Amino acid sequence: MRPFVLLVAAIAALGGLLFGYDTGVISGAILFITKDFGLGRTLTEFTVSVVLAGCILGSIAAGYLADRIGRRTSLLVAGVIFGAGAIGSAFSPEIVSLLVSRFVIGVGIGITSVVAPLYISEVSPAEIRGALVSLYQFAITVGILGAFIVDYALARDEAWRWMLGLAVVPSTILIAGMLFMPESPRYLFKAGRDEDARRDLARIHGPDEALAEEQIIRQAATARVAGFEALREPAVKLALFIGVGLASLQQFTGINTVIYYGPHIFQLAGIGSAQASILATALVGVVNVLATLIAIFLVDRVGRKPLLYWGCAGMFVALATLALVFAQPHVEGALVGITLASLMLYVGCFAFSLGPIVWLLISEIFPLRARGLGMSISTLANWVANFLVSQFFLTMLARLGTPLTFSVYAALCLVTIAFVARMVPETKREGLESIAVGG
Ligand code: BGC
Repeated sequence: MRPFVLLVAAIAALGGLLFGYDTGVISGAILFITKDFGLGRTLTEFTVSVVLAGCILGSIAAGYLADRIGRRTSLLVAGVIFGAGAIGSAFSPEIVSLLVSRFVIGVGIGITSVVAPLYISEVSPAEIRGALVSLYQFAITVGILGAFIVDYALARDEAWRWMLGLAVVPSTILIAGMLFMPESPRYLFKAGRDEDARRDLARIHGPDEALAEEQIIRQAATARVAGFEALREPAVKLALFIGVGLASLQQFTGINTVIYYGPHIFQLAGIGSAQASILATALVGVVNVLATLIAIFLVDRVGRKPLLYWGCAGMFVALATLALVFAQPHVEGALVGITLASLMLYVGCFAFSLGPIVWLLISEIFPLRARGLGMSISTLANWVANFLVSQFFLTMLARLGTPLTFSVYAALCLVTIAFVARMVPETKREGLESIAVGG
């Protein structure tokens, strides 16, 4: 039965690929869009950030959708939205239709960012749930790297319409794949569709294990309160505090300053030429992909918390080093190498810790009756925090200076370590219904 579960996760992870591709691709495309449409600074910034506004709306809608029409159908809807947005942006005759299309794509990303990890986590056997949800993060990083490569390859022809339009390929695969996938049995029991649930459970776990799983899930699904009412329970409130905290800290420790503004930071580090800074950014993309593999292999063996500690400690060291380097009067000679190494260390440490494990934990800590809504609110916090950091990063650099800016992010890594130590439960190998928080 394992190959089937892997297939389910791989298809849902395609949502991650779209997430990564569509958030990453704009960094290269924007140069040519600005030129073609003759945009000023405000419209340029808005073209980049409108997608995040869509993500915020999408993640609000996602919990409701996932609990109403199901996880599988929500992912199908997201696939269609992605496809429409990709085609719309590729053929935009003027800026307004491009902005609308980018917003639509954002809604697709927002829905996927809630429902894909939720779906994967609900169809996974407990012993490999961590690896399978990490596969989703792996897909995000591959999508980001793919976008950097496509941007690089098409930059000479200034083919921004192709850059944006190519997202139609993975969205078609996502739609086609999801058509053949089962619904999450947990959702089906909750919706009272017991027969369908049993059939899908048998497809996922095999007939023997399916029976045991059914009993556990049915118990959880019979809880009467659901949705917003469940949010009043102290245990669910606690889970929500942890979910929102982790999701925001994933962003407030600064990852997207590097992912979205890579070339800018490399220029601060004294790498002048556009070519070299694009290459360095691509290298960041590769480190991001490779280090995620570490999480896939270790997260179910050593657990979630140790990886979070090591990762955040590494990020702290990298950021503190960057702060020290940028406090020097000139960044040159060996300091350039140290800067590059620190940035790679930072991204690598994020990729095996906060990157995958935050999505994993927020899919685990809520009881079934509040899962869709709880994930939705946590993910909303993630997008709002992302928006704040990306919107104000350049302002922070200008107002606080580079060393202080990186010191702030470094300090937030320490806050994250303390938060994990005090608040976060270890969920390794626990059955989804027996995880302590809110259970
Ligand atoms: C984060 C994104 C980030 C990506 C980088 C994801 O887990 O949510 O904001 O761009 O990791 O790989």
